[in-house]
Amino acid sequence: MNLKWEYCATAPSNIAFLKYWGKSAEDTQWPANDSLSMTLANCVTETSAMRADLRDHQFYFGNTLYQRSDQRWAKVYQHLDRLSAAFGMRERLIIRSRNSFPDSCGIASSASGFMALTLAALACWNDLESFEAFESHGISRNDLAQCARMGSGSAFRSIFGGYVQWDRGPSPDQQVVQMVEGQWILHDVIVLISEEAKPMSSSEAHRLAWTSPLFPVRLAGSMQRLEHMKDALVQKDMSRLGPLLEIEALEMHAVMMSSTPAVRYFGNATATFLVEVRRMRMELGIPVYFTIDAGPNVHLICEPAMLARIEAELTKSKRRYIVDQVGSGPSLIRRNPDV
Ligand code: PMV
Repeated sequence: MNLKWEYCATAPSNIAFLKYWGKSAEDTQWPANDSLSMTLANCVTETSAMRADLRDHQFYFGNTLYQRSDQRWAKVYQHLDRLSAAFGMRERLIIRSRNSFPDSCGIASSASGFMALTLAALACWNDLESFEAFESHGISRNDLAQCARMGSGSAFRSIFGGYVQWDRGPSPDQQVVQMVEGQWILHDVIVLISEEAKPMSSSEAHRLAWTSPLFPVRLAGSMQRLEHMKDALVQKDMSRLGPLLEIEALEMHAVMMSSTPAVRYFGNATATFLVEVRRMRMELGIPVYFTIDAGPNVHLICEPAMLARIEAELTKSKRRYIVDQVGSGPSLIRRNPDV
């Protein structure tokens, strides 16, 4: 056993096309509906783990050490505790993590963050330097996804590249399904609307979904929407996928807004921008469609041929944005930090 090895995982964020909203079992994090997402290429979290002779783990985000007592990062320590209990690991780890995207801009980073943390920590404890090594050790990608989702549900889908499906639960035989491996190149242009902190964490808001009268209606229709979306993805048909993306995002936000208490993740600035998106489509003839997660930022989904025109419009209206696209999934390396 070499105490010096550092295990580094790079894990992507993902943007949900069909959203996971509401849990059927809170303590075990089972989602109430099936979801489908596109794994991103550029918005990633890089996390390294090294064994250390310490009383507690140490978690660095950027260059700052955050303690267990720091409320914002307590979930990281809880996740390490959960993993160490599940795998019978006693050694403490030094974890260093950073995002490739600005962390203050309100893009959900929990999917990439918890997947990278899970991979780095388990690789380090078990001395495994690749996904093949994990497999030989009896830990499949599905097992890794199941571990990551305990930190953040949406992290489950970041185990693969391309388009990834996560089925509702509880389900003991649940498998993560990689749908169409990046065959259709789509862009996600993330338009940064606001940097304000979320009014409520998504874990708390998931719980309220059941209080919305719209939630049962949403659940009843989600399987059919999933089939239509998958079909549009296979056919590479933006004129069918696009409207489904928008209806889906608006429906999830309608559930949020009709919960008790109501949860509102976007306000006038986002709503005004949605009108701009519609104008790009209706007046300028650009096939671009939006989706929105649990926050105010807008994800514009489009094909590569449309990117330049969209960027020109965003530049004209002085918008801040990040260009991303479908990516190939997480990666893992082992290195000697002294070399
Ligand atoms: O993974 P959580 O608990 O942060 O929930 C994420 C929920 C959405 O981002 C709104 C949708 C999704 O499927 O990613």
